[in-house]
Amino acid sequence: MSNQKSFLSKVVAFVNQKGGVGKSTLATNAAAILSESYRVVLLDTDEQGSSELWCNARDEDYAENHKVRSFSKHYKKTVNASAVTIDLEDIASGCDIVVVDTPGRNEFVSLGVISAANLVIIPLTPGNYSLWSSDATMQLIQKVAAIRSGDFAARFLLNRRDKRRVSEEMELALREYDIPLMKTTIGNRNIYENSSSGLSVLEIGARSASDREGQREMRELVREIERLLSISRQSGKTSAKNDKKKTATI
Ligand SMILES: Nc1ncnc2c1ncn2[C@@H]1O[C@H](COP(=O)(O)OP(=O)(O)O)[C@@H](O)[C@H]1O
Ligand SMILES: [Mg+2]
Repeated sequence: MSNQKSFLSKVVAFVNQKGGVGKSTLATNAAAILSESYRVVLLDTDEQGSSELWCNARDEDYAENHKVRSFSKHYKKTVNASAVTIDLEDIASGCDIVVVDTPGRNEFVSLGVISAANLVIIPLTPGNYSLWSSDATMQLIQKVAAIRSGDFAARFLLNRRDKRRVSEEMELALREYDIPLMKTTIGNRNIYENSSSGLSVLEIGARSASDREGQREMRELVREIERLLSISRQSGKTSAKNDKKKTATI
């Protein structure tokens, strides 16, 4: 139909069954920055509601900023992963990018989200690299990658990186998982803690070299997400470089 809107309909999910690794921090920052160029929905599936609170603060106090539409749906006690997948596909059909924040401990939600995702980002913090997730999640990522090799990618993302604490040994251990590391790494910086009240790190004034580095890293992360989704910023919203839903393989 000629008046039908065309959306990119991509799903980027931040997944790790361990809490406190930065899923909500990275999801909200990525959603805000992506919303400069795309129609973005931030979906909070965690009953802790960190992303939802961030969005509410943004709407109340910073209405002039790039709007991020948000939904929250917590799927409490769900054992139906496919219901989560169907919901996500439905939300994605009406926007360019759905950024999904997931709960630590609900495996069914994680599984449902991974099945619908084009890009799964697994944030890790130093000290828990080997404890990142369950075997079930890993196996699902591998299965989804095998079935949808053209439109699915999964990446580890080193968050709160402290060069002194990241040993080569740990990075080597991660390589055993078959999931590549993102090229971008995110440092341990105050500016990320300050971005929890409705703004992205780019919208907070940088007061130190570390703040500026945090802004640079987050821009780089968003560019890498765009590359992995095979989309690129051009004038106006929604521009797909390649076919819809085409991304790198795992
Ligand atoms: N790169 C970072 N630098 C500094 N603090 C961070 C960073 N990433 C996350 N945090 C902080 O760590 C805590 C946990 O992050 P959060 O995003 O809530 O994790 P999760 O959603 O995985 O439970 C929060 O207080 C957040 O501000
Ligand atoms: Mg969270």
